[in-house]
Amino acid sequence: MRTPIVAGNWKMHKTVGEGVALASELVKASAEFDGCKVVLCPPFTAVAAVANAVKGSPIEVGGQDVHWEAKGAYTGEVSCEMLLDVGCSWVIIGHSERRAMFGETDDTVNFKVKAALASGLRPIVCVGESLQQREQGLTFDVVVSQVKAAFGGVPEDQAVQMVVAYEPIWAIGTGRASSGADAQEVCARIRSTLASLYGAITAETIRIQYGGSVKPGNMAEFAGQPDIDGALVGGASLNAQDFCGIIKATLDAVKQRQQ
Ligand code: 13P
Repeated sequence: MRTPIVAGNWKMHKTVGEGVALASELVKASAEFDGCKVVLCPPFTAVAAVANAVKGSPIEVGGQDVHWEAKGAYTGEVSCEMLLDVGCSWVIIGHSERRAMFGETDDTVNFKVKAALASGLRPIVCVGESLQQREQGLTFDVVVSQVKAAFGGVPEDQAVQMVVAYEPIWAIGTGRASSGADAQEVCARIRSTLASLYGAITAETIRIQYGGSVKPGNMAEFAGQPDIDGALVGGASLNAQDFCGIIKATLDAVKQRQQ
């Protein structure tokens, strides 16, 4: 049985003070998180302080992006070593906002994945189709090719360190989440793609999250699906009540699945 993972992608929200306040609230609630891995991904400026605030709790911290080079003249970028240095154990790679607005490509995603794994950071790699691609019937093609590109050249023993986040672009920040059944269909295809790369047994160990307008009220629909192992949460990760509600709904659904 895969342990579910719920990650909060704070995007460009929260000053250091605001981030520490939220992280501290979550630490207080974290006795309830048993059975679910919880990761917070603050903006770079707040990572160190948030990592410090969650120290000693089961909550882990990740960056929202990383550069693949170890160091050098790359203005505005941060390296894997820098993220590790301030307490990260995870990093989001290939978010659709970075693909759409900041020139991220399948190639740069793959460079970043390999650099992260080599450094000991665990990638949460994002894939997902646009509304136009869905309407054209291209969802599986797009997602399968993004998964294959992200995992390109990654050996099996490192692939198991990764998490895939399936985030249909049309569901992000729109309040229009995918249905559980549609998300399951794509996540099952992601798993079969991983099976084609690494074999069925390894594919069964890799966690796949759903992301896109996840709320406490719809999380059960996703966490109840056989191939969905948690969520990558944007807006609803910005307050403790909603984020804790999502974690609780995840744990409840997983318990039901086990019965
Ligand atoms: P929302 O939960 O705000 O739709 O964002 C999802 C997302 O992009 C997480 O990475």
